[in-house]
Amino acid sequence: MKTDLEEIIDQVLIDEESLNKRIKKLANQVNEYYEDKNELVLVGILKGSIMFMAQLAKSIKINCTLEFMDVSSYEDGTESSGNVKIIKDLDTDISGKEVLIVEDIIDTGRTLDALRHSLIKRGANSVKIITLLDKPERRVIEIKPDWTGFKIPNEFVVGYGLDYQQKYRNLPFIGVLKREVYE
Ligand code: IMP
Ligand code: MG
Repeated sequence: MKTDLEEIIDQVLIDEESLNKRIKKLANQVNEYYEDKNELVLVGILKGSIMFMAQLAKSIKINCTLEFMDVSSYEDGTESSGNVKIIKDLDTDISGKEVLIVEDIIDTGRTLDALRHSLIKRGANSVKIITLLDKPERRVIEIKPDWTGFKIPNEFVVGYGLDYQQKYRNLPFIGVLKREVYE
């Protein structure tokens, strides 16, 4: 069955061309920043970051390895941060390495805050964050990404890796999900 876009998407927020252009610019900034380093470890957070990771990595000129982690933040209602449940861990030792966490979107900031601390504890030389999207209005934990693709309003978006109930990750643009779909 084909996806009927008109039934699920309110508006295309960022089209494919704008995404790719912006990601190229971000890659240039990353290249400049790590210019004098021998190696960079890109850590993509599954599954949302896959498209961004792939597009970004194509324009990275520094020697790099592509790693993935799958995490979820604990939501026990009392502790708001500091804990991250690792569902799939890194396959490599990152001690002494330059690590760049590649994320699809920062919302409350809980996941990234916990993850960053956990990677610093493992002895990474540096841990930076690059995110395709940022919803600053929704922040609960104060965390600032080092590089951001686009700041977006507080709307639920899908596509380019982002899902609603695991669907729509394959759409080549970022679109606002119709409220009827999830309300
Ligand atoms: P947080 O910053 O810990 O709240 O978690 C951010 C995660 O929530 C992201 O990595 C996404 O997986 C998910 N998320 C937040 N906002 C959206 C959205 O608008 N669309 C799809 N996923 C989202
Ligand atoms: Mg995610």
